[in-house]
Amino acid sequence: MKSRYEAAKQVFIDSVDFEDYIDLNSSVAAYKQLEYSLDKPLKMILLFGRPGTGKSILLNHIQQKLKHQREIYYFDTPAVNEKEFFHKLFKVLTQKDLPNNTEVNFSALVEFCQGLRGKREIVILLDEAQMYDTEMMEKIRLLSDSRAVKFVISLHKTEDEDLIAKEHFKSRIWEVIELKNASREDQATYIHKKLLKKNLFDIANSIKAKEMKMIHHFTKGNYRECNKLLFTIFEICEHYDKNESAKINYTHIHSKIIEMSALKLGYINV
Ligand SMILES: Nc1ncnc2c1ncn2[C@@H]1O[C@H](COP(=O)(O)OP(=O)(O)OP(=O)(O)O)[C@@H](O)[C@H]1O
Ligand SMILES: [Mg+2]
Repeated sequence: MKSRYEAAKQVFIDSVDFEDYIDLNSSVAAYKQLEYSLDKPLKMILLFGRPGTGKSILLNHIQQKLKHQREIYYFDTPAVNEKEFFHKLFKVLTQKDLPNNTEVNFSALVEFCQGLRGKREIVILLDEAQMYDTEMMEKIRLLSDSRAVKFVISLHKTEDEDLIAKEHFKSRIWEVIELKNASREDQATYIHKKLLKKNLFDIANSIKAKEMKMIHHFTKGNYRECNKLLFTIFEICEHYDKNESAKINYTHIHSKIIEMSALKLGYINV
């Protein structure tokens, strides 16, 4: 028989799908800031935050929300090379396909963008921008100078590198929006809403305040870590449910299970 925890486990498989987006205090604040910035005469906007803070899902959400009002495009992972990137951009800007074996003439593209000024305003959401090199960023900036194309540059900052300290980010970016790890409140909302969306009411109610606090402590409020921990918690619950159901309290997920999961994921060392 299928365990009730099977579905709960699936809820926390990491995904970036706009349909899974949830309004959280931090994401709503960042969304508003981003929407407001898009209306200003800025050329580039920087969205940054540590890995797993919800940048990609926010960009997907903003694209979905604004696509009927604006020309807005989401570029997920960077193209394998510059040629491919400009092909993609060419297609978006000219609404035409370029034959595969031809290369985009960059100066012609800049001129084309200059010609669009005052006629169209295109927003390009560039995810994973830490992967673009300086030369590419410089070209992106030149395109944004046309004022017909506006870029939202999303990048993750890691512990050891301060990307926005890099020269091309320091001097060119006018607006900076940061996504941080979730507060305890936001994380609890996230966990509950994710489960409720799948009608898993009893399971959502079985995670009490004390255990929510532990989850926040172990994951530091990082959404990706939170997904991993919740997946593991439900995996353990599923195991008990199938094999030793006397050991599980269906109305209250015990802190022992959270600890076991944290141990399994290496948050606690023995
Ligand atoms: N507001 C939200 N609504 C729903 N899910 C969210 C939200 N914020 C974060 N998540 C979830 O957290 C996980 C990490 O989010 P996401 O992939 O967007 O992070 P990221 O900042 O782009 O990370 P990286 O820098 O590694 O690309 C995803 O599974 C995503 O669905
Ligand atoms: Mg991402």
